Amino acid sequence: MAELNLVLLGPPGSGKGTQGERLRDELELPYWATGDILRAAVREGTDLGKSAKEYMDRGDLVPDEVIVGMIGERIDSGEAADGFILDGFPRTEPQAEALAAKMDELGRRLTAVLLIDVSDEEVVRRLGGRRTCVENGHVFHVEFNPPEIEGVCDVDGSELIVRDDDKPEVIRHRLEQYHAKTAPLVDHYDHKSLLRRIEGAAPPDAVADSIRRTLATLRLEADEAI
Ligand code: AP5
Repeated sequence: MAELNLVLLGPPGSGKGTQGERLRDELELPYWATGDILRAAVREGTDLGKSAKEYMDRGDLVPDEVIVGMIGERIDSGEAADGFILDGFPRTEPQAEALAAKMDELGRRLTAVLLIDVSDEEVVRRLGGRRTCVENGHVFHVEFNPPEIEGVCDVDGSELIVRDDDKPEVIRHRLEQYHAKTAPLVDHYDHKSLLRRIEGAAPPDAVADSIRRTLATLRLEADEAI
Protein backbone atom coordinates (compact mmCIF):
# COMPACT_ATOMS: atom_id res chain seq x y z
CA MET A 1 0.00 0.00 0.00
CA ALA A 2 1.51 3.32 -1.03
CA GLU A 3 0.31 5.33 1.92
CA LEU A 4 -1.76 4.69 5.03
CA ASN A 5 -4.12 7.52 5.98
CA LEU A 6 -6.04 6.41 9.06
CA VAL A 7 -8.71 7.97 11.26
CA LEU A 8 -9.42 6.67 14.77
CA LEU A 9 -13.08 7.23 15.63
CA GLY A 10 -14.89 6.36 18.85
CA PRO A 11 -16.48 7.72 22.00
CA PRO A 12 -14.45 9.48 24.67
CA GLY A 13 -12.38 6.94 26.57
CA SER A 14 -12.79 4.20 23.97
CA GLY A 15 -9.01 3.80 23.78
CA LYS A 16 -8.17 5.93 20.74
CA GLY A 17 -5.13 7.43 22.45
CA THR A 18 -3.96 4.09 23.85
CA GLN A 19 -4.16 2.43 20.43
CA GLY A 20 -3.02 5.52 18.50
CA GLU A 21 0.31 5.61 20.34
CA ARG A 22 0.90 1.93 19.63
CA LEU A 23 0.07 2.44 15.95
CA ARG A 24 2.38 5.44 15.74
CA ASP A 25 5.27 3.33 17.07
CA GLU A 26 4.49 0.28 14.91
CA LEU A 27 3.75 2.09 11.66
CA GLU A 28 6.20 4.97 12.18
CA LEU A 29 3.65 7.47 10.91
CA PRO A 30 2.83 10.91 12.25
CA TYR A 31 0.08 10.68 14.86
CA TRP A 32 -2.06 13.71 15.53
CA ALA A 33 -4.51 13.65 18.44
CA THR A 34 -6.55 16.86 18.45
CA GLY A 35 -7.18 16.61 22.20
CA ASP A 36 -3.41 16.35 22.89
CA ILE A 37 -2.65 19.28 20.56
CA LEU A 38 -5.29 21.42 22.29
CA ARG A 39 -4.13 20.45 25.81
CA ALA A 40 -0.54 21.36 24.87
CA ALA A 41 -1.79 24.75 23.62
CA VAL A 42 -3.65 25.28 26.92
CA ARG A 43 -0.47 24.43 28.90
CA GLU A 44 1.58 26.83 26.77
CA GLY A 45 -1.03 29.58 27.12
CA THR A 46 -1.21 30.26 23.36
CA ASP A 47 -4.19 32.06 21.78
CA LEU A 48 -5.45 28.68 20.55
CA GLY A 49 -5.20 27.26 24.08
CA LYS A 50 -6.95 30.26 25.63
CA SER A 51 -9.88 30.04 23.23
CA ALA A 52 -10.16 26.22 23.46
CA LYS A 53 -9.94 25.82 27.25
CA GLU A 54 -13.47 26.89 28.16
CA TYR A 55 -15.00 24.52 25.60
CA MET A 56 -12.82 21.63 26.75
CA ASP A 57 -13.49 22.15 30.45
CA ARG A 58 -17.24 22.05 29.78
CA GLY A 59 -16.91 18.95 27.60
CA ASP A 60 -18.11 20.87 24.53
CA LEU A 61 -16.49 20.61 21.13
CA VAL A 62 -14.11 23.38 20.09
CA PRO A 63 -15.48 25.28 17.01
CA ASP A 64 -14.89 23.49 13.71
CA GLU A 65 -12.93 26.32 12.06
CA VAL A 66 -10.27 26.23 14.80
CA ILE A 67 -9.81 22.46 14.52
CA VAL A 68 -9.94 22.27 10.73
CA GLY A 69 -7.12 24.81 10.32
CA MET A 70 -5.03 23.06 12.95
CA ILE A 71 -5.21 19.65 11.23
CA GLY A 72 -5.14 20.98 7.67
CA GLU A 73 -1.73 22.56 8.13
CA ARG A 74 -0.34 19.29 9.50
CA ILE A 75 -1.66 17.22 6.58
CA ASP A 76 -0.17 19.79 4.21
CA SER A 77 3.24 19.34 5.81
CA GLY A 78 5.83 17.01 4.21
CA GLU A 79 5.71 14.96 7.41
CA ALA A 80 2.47 13.31 6.25
CA ALA A 81 3.80 12.16 2.85
CA ASP A 82 3.69 8.42 3.73
CA GLY A 83 0.44 8.72 5.64
CA PHE A 84 -0.90 9.77 9.02
CA ILE A 85 -2.98 8.67 11.97
CA LEU A 86 -5.70 11.08 13.12
CA ASP A 87 -7.18 10.62 16.61
CA GLY A 88 -10.24 12.67 17.54
CA PHE A 89 -10.62 14.30 14.13
CA PRO A 90 -13.00 14.52 12.37
CA ARG A 91 -15.68 14.71 15.05
CA THR A 92 -18.48 16.55 13.22
CA GLU A 93 -19.93 16.41 9.70
CA PRO A 94 -18.34 19.78 8.73
CA GLN A 95 -14.95 18.48 9.93
CA ALA A 96 -15.41 15.30 7.84
CA GLU A 97 -16.26 17.43 4.80
CA ALA A 98 -13.23 19.66 5.37
CA LEU A 99 -10.98 16.60 5.62
CA ALA A 100 -12.43 15.17 2.39
CA ALA A 101 -11.86 18.52 0.64
CA LYS A 102 -8.25 18.64 1.88
CA MET A 103 -7.59 15.08 0.68
CA ASP A 104 -9.16 15.85 -2.73
CA GLU A 105 -7.03 18.98 -3.03
CA LEU A 106 -3.90 16.88 -2.41
CA GLY A 107 -5.06 14.01 -4.67
CA ARG A 108 -5.05 11.62 -1.72
CA ARG A 109 -7.60 9.30 -0.11
CA LEU A 110 -8.38 8.09 3.37
CA THR A 111 -7.41 4.43 3.74
CA ALA A 112 -9.80 3.57 6.56
CA VAL A 113 -11.71 4.90 9.54
CA LEU A 114 -11.23 2.57 12.53
CA LEU A 115 -14.21 2.77 14.87
CA ILE A 116 -13.21 1.68 18.38
CA ASP A 117 -16.57 0.64 19.71
CA VAL A 118 -17.39 0.58 23.45
CA SER A 119 -20.58 1.08 25.46
CA ASP A 120 -21.37 4.22 27.47
CA GLU A 121 -21.03 2.21 30.71
CA GLU A 122 -17.49 1.19 29.73
CA VAL A 123 -16.65 4.83 28.88
CA VAL A 124 -17.69 5.92 32.38
CA ARG A 125 -15.59 3.14 34.01
CA ARG A 126 -12.55 3.98 31.90
CA LEU A 127 -12.61 7.76 32.22
CA GLY A 128 -13.46 7.59 35.92
CA GLY A 129 -10.20 5.72 36.57
CA ARG A 130 -7.95 7.39 34.00
CA ARG A 131 -4.78 9.10 35.14
CA THR A 132 -2.90 11.29 32.66
CA CYS A 133 0.75 12.35 32.72
CA VAL A 134 0.92 16.10 33.17
CA GLU A 135 3.95 16.60 30.91
CA ASN A 136 3.33 14.40 27.87
CA GLY A 137 -0.20 13.00 28.16
CA HIS A 138 0.74 9.31 28.68
CA VAL A 139 -2.38 7.51 29.92
CA PHE A 140 -2.89 4.98 32.71
CA HIS A 141 -5.88 3.52 34.51
CA VAL A 142 -6.01 2.85 38.24
CA GLU A 143 -7.47 -0.62 37.63
CA PHE A 144 -6.87 -1.65 33.99
CA ASN A 145 -3.39 -0.21 33.43
CA PRO A 146 -1.93 1.01 36.75
CA PRO A 147 1.47 2.77 36.83
CA GLU A 148 4.28 1.00 38.71
CA ILE A 149 4.37 3.81 41.29
CA GLU A 150 1.04 5.38 42.16
CA GLY A 151 0.75 8.94 40.86
CA VAL A 152 3.96 8.77 38.78
CA CYS A 153 4.24 8.28 35.00
CA ASP A 154 6.19 5.10 34.10
CA VAL A 155 7.47 6.71 30.90
CA ASP A 156 8.82 10.10 31.97
CA GLY A 157 8.43 10.22 35.77
CA SER A 158 6.10 13.21 35.77
CA GLU A 159 3.00 13.58 37.92
CA LEU A 160 -0.22 11.74 37.00
CA ILE A 161 -3.40 13.81 37.28
CA VAL A 162 -7.15 13.49 36.70
CA ARG A 163 -7.99 15.51 33.56
CA ASP A 164 -10.40 18.41 34.20
CA ASP A 165 -12.84 16.90 31.72
CA ASP A 166 -12.75 13.47 33.42
CA LYS A 167 -15.04 14.65 36.21
CA PRO A 168 -18.34 12.67 36.26
CA GLU A 169 -20.64 15.52 35.12
CA VAL A 170 -18.29 16.47 32.28
CA ILE A 171 -17.94 12.83 31.17
CA ARG A 172 -21.74 12.65 30.81
CA HIS A 173 -21.76 15.83 28.72
CA ARG A 174 -18.92 14.58 26.49
CA LEU A 175 -20.90 11.41 25.84
CA GLU A 176 -23.97 13.48 24.88
CA GLN A 177 -21.81 15.51 22.50
CA TYR A 178 -20.42 12.30 21.02
CA HIS A 179 -23.86 10.81 20.35
CA ALA A 180 -25.25 14.07 18.93
CA LYS A 181 -22.34 15.27 16.78
CA THR A 182 -19.78 12.50 16.23
CA ALA A 183 -21.75 9.24 16.10
CA PRO A 184 -23.40 10.29 12.76
CA LEU A 185 -19.92 9.93 11.21
CA VAL A 186 -20.20 6.16 11.69
CA ASP A 187 -22.90 5.96 8.98
CA HIS A 188 -21.16 8.68 6.96
CA TYR A 189 -17.98 6.60 6.62
CA ASP A 190 -19.84 3.29 6.39
CA HIS A 191 -21.62 4.58 3.27
CA LYS A 192 -18.23 5.40 1.80
CA SER A 193 -17.02 1.83 2.62
CA LEU A 194 -14.24 3.29 4.74
CA LEU A 195 -15.49 2.17 8.17
CA ARG A 196 -13.86 -0.77 9.96
CA ARG A 197 -15.37 -1.73 13.34
CA ILE A 198 -12.99 -2.73 16.12
CA GLU A 199 -14.38 -4.37 19.26
CA GLY A 200 -13.02 -1.98 21.89
CA ALA A 201 -14.28 -3.71 25.03
CA ALA A 202 -11.44 -6.26 25.01
CA PRO A 203 -8.13 -5.67 26.86
CA PRO A 204 -5.70 -3.26 25.13
CA ASP A 205 -3.47 -6.03 23.64
CA ALA A 206 -6.50 -7.78 22.13
CA VAL A 207 -7.76 -4.48 20.67
CA ALA A 208 -4.30 -3.88 19.18
CA ASP A 209 -4.34 -7.39 17.63
CA SER A 210 -7.73 -6.71 16.13
CA ILE A 211 -6.46 -3.46 14.59
CA ARG A 212 -3.40 -5.29 13.19
CA ARG A 213 -5.66 -7.91 11.56
CA THR A 214 -7.81 -5.15 10.06
CA LEU A 215 -4.75 -3.38 8.63
CA ALA A 216 -3.45 -6.68 7.20
CA THR A 217 -6.80 -7.20 5.45
CA LEU A 218 -6.68 -3.67 4.05
CA ARG A 219 -3.20 -4.35 2.65
CA LEU A 220 -4.41 -7.58 1.01
CA GLU A 221 -7.40 -5.79 -0.51
CA ALA A 222 -5.11 -3.03 -1.82
CA ASP A 223 -2.68 -5.59 -3.34
CA GLU A 224 -5.55 -7.45 -5.04
CA ALA A 225 -6.86 -4.19 -6.49
CA ILE A 226 -3.52 -3.51 -8.28
P1 AP5 B 1 -9.86 14.18 23.42
O1 AP5 B 1 -8.65 14.25 24.23
O2 AP5 B 1 -9.76 13.73 22.01
O3 AP5 B 1 -10.93 13.33 24.22
P2 AP5 B 1 -11.82 12.10 23.80
O4 AP5 B 1 -12.17 11.85 22.39
O5 AP5 B 1 -12.98 12.34 24.68
O6 AP5 B 1 -10.93 10.92 24.04
P3 AP5 B 1 -10.12 10.61 25.31
O7 AP5 B 1 -8.76 11.20 25.22
O8 AP5 B 1 -10.94 10.97 26.53
O9 AP5 B 1 -10.11 9.02 25.29
P4 AP5 B 1 -9.42 7.96 24.32
O10 AP5 B 1 -10.42 7.38 23.39
O11 AP5 B 1 -8.15 8.51 23.74
O12 AP5 B 1 -9.11 6.84 25.39
P5 AP5 B 1 -7.74 6.50 26.19
O13 AP5 B 1 -6.82 5.75 25.30
O14 AP5 B 1 -7.21 7.71 26.89
O15 AP5 B 1 -10.59 15.61 23.37
C1 AP5 B 1 -10.73 16.39 24.54
C2 AP5 B 1 -11.52 17.65 24.20
O16 AP5 B 1 -10.82 18.41 23.18
C3 AP5 B 1 -12.91 17.43 23.61
O17 AP5 B 1 -13.89 17.20 24.60
C4 AP5 B 1 -13.12 18.75 22.86
O18 AP5 B 1 -13.42 19.79 23.73
C5 AP5 B 1 -11.74 19.01 22.28
N1 AP5 B 1 -11.57 18.39 20.95
C6 AP5 B 1 -10.70 17.40 20.61
N2 AP5 B 1 -10.82 17.10 19.31
C7 AP5 B 1 -11.79 17.90 18.82
C8 AP5 B 1 -12.40 18.03 17.54
N3 AP5 B 1 -12.02 17.28 16.48
N4 AP5 B 1 -13.38 18.94 17.39
C9 AP5 B 1 -13.78 19.72 18.42
N5 AP5 B 1 -13.26 19.64 19.66
C10 AP5 B 1 -12.27 18.73 19.86
O19 AP5 B 1 -8.32 5.46 27.28
C11 AP5 B 1 -9.18 5.89 28.32
C12 AP5 B 1 -8.84 5.11 29.61
O20 AP5 B 1 -9.16 3.73 29.43
C13 AP5 B 1 -7.36 5.15 30.00
O21 AP5 B 1 -7.28 5.18 31.40
C14 AP5 B 1 -6.78 3.83 29.44
O22 AP5 B 1 -5.69 3.37 30.21
C15 AP5 B 1 -7.99 2.90 29.56
N6 AP5 B 1 -8.07 1.93 28.47
C16 AP5 B 1 -7.78 2.12 27.16
N7 AP5 B 1 -8.02 1.01 26.45
C17 AP5 B 1 -8.50 0.08 27.34
C18 AP5 B 1 -8.95 -1.26 27.22
N8 AP5 B 1 -8.95 -1.88 26.01
N9 AP5 B 1 -9.38 -1.90 28.34
C19 AP5 B 1 -9.39 -1.27 29.54
N10 AP5 B 1 -8.96 -0.01 29.72
C20 AP5 B 1 -8.53 0.67 28.64
